[in-house]
Amino acid sequence: LREKYLTAIADARDEAAIETLRVQAVGKKGEISLAMRELGRMSPEERQEAGPRLNALKDEINSALAARKAALADAALDERLRAEWLDVTLPGRPRRQGTIHPVSQVTEEVTAIFADMGFAVAEGPQVESDWYNFDALNIPSHHPARAEMDTFYMHRAEGDDRPPHVLRTHTSPVQIRAMQAQGAPIRVIAPGRVYRADYDQTHTPMFHQVEGLAIDRDISMANLKWVLEEFVKAFFEVDQVDLRFRASHFPFTEPSAEVDIRCSWEGGTLKVGEGDDWLEILGSGMVHPRVLEAGHIDPNEWQGFAFGLGIDRIAMLKYGIPDLRAFFDSDLRWLRHYGFAA
Ligand code: PHE
Repeated sequence: LREKYLTAIADARDEAAIETLRVQAVGKKGEISLAMRELGRMSPEERQEAGPRLNALKDEINSALAARKAALADAALDERLRAEWLDVTLPGRPRRQGTIHPVSQVTEEVTAIFADMGFAVAEGPQVESDWYNFDALNIPSHHPARAEMDTFYMHRAEGDDRPPHVLRTHTSPVQIRAMQAQGAPIRVIAPGRVYRADYDQTHTPMFHQVEGLAIDRDISMANLKWVLEEFVKAFFEVDQVDLRFRASHFPFTEPSAEVDIRCSWEGGTLKVGEGDDWLEILGSGMVHPRVLEAGHIDPNEWQGFAFGLGIDRIAMLKYGIPDLRAFFDSDLRWLRHYGFAA
C-alpha cells in the first residue's frame, strides 16, 4: 500500500491527480481509512501493532501529497516566470512621428508675424461662388483676367441652376467676405488654399496664399510698403531686405504693384537676398472703390490696401528649395532630406 501510493504521488502530473490519489488513499472511503476502520474488529494485540503503523502511514501519505502539491505549484510558477519574462533593459523600439508640413509651419509663422502687427485671421470657402471670386473683385464675366487665371470650374448637371462655383483662384474673395461680415475699419489676413490649372517648377495646381487687407480712413501705399518690409524682415530674420515693387495691374486694386524678392538659384539651391534673380512673392495695391462697394463699405469714407502673398513661394525661399512641386509629392525621402520628417 505504502509503496503503491508513494510512487503514484511522485508520478502525479497535476493537482487533479493528487486530489484523486488523496481520495483513494485517505478519503472517507479511501483504502487507508477503510483499513483503519478494520482496527475495531482486531484483537487488542493486533490493534496495538497495526494502529500506530496505519496512523504513521496516513501521516506519511498526507505529507507526501502536500509536498508533491507544493512542488507542482513551484514548477508552475517557474514556468510562468519564464514565459512572462521581460527584459526591461532592452532599448525601446523607435517610433516614427509625423511632423508639421513646411507649408503649415510657414503659414503659422506668417500668421504670427501679422498678428503682432494687429491683423486678425479671416476665412472663406475653397469652393467659392464666381461672384465672390470674380465679380465682387471687379472682374466681370468676359474680363480677360478670368481666362488668365486658369480657373477650375465646378461641374453643374444640366438643369442645375445654382450660381456657378469655382475652386477659388486666390484668397481675395475673403476680402469681400470680411468686409461684409465686419465693416470698416478692418485689419485681417486670410491664409488658405487656392487652385489654378498650372504646373511647372514654381507652380502647382493647388497652392497657398495669405491675403492681407487693411481698411481705415487714411491708409496709403506707404503703410503697405512698411507692413511688407516689416513682414519680410521678420520672416527671413534679416535687418535689411531687397524688395522690388513693380507697377502692375489687378482689377481689384488701383494702383497695383507686384513685389519680388532678390535671390539666386546657384547650384540648384535657392538663396535669398543675393544674386541677380527675382522671385515674385506677392501682388498688392490700394483696394478699388468698386471692391469696397461690393463689401458694403463706403469708398468716400474708407480706403485701404490689400495684398496676396504666395505662402509656398516664401517657403521655397526660406528652405532653399528650387522646385515647388516637391512640397506636394509626399516623398518621405525628400521630406527627411530637408528635415521635414523624422
Ligand atoms: N489676388 C491676386 C493674385 O492672386 C493677388 C493680389 C491680392 C493682388 C490683393 C492685389 C491685392 O494674384
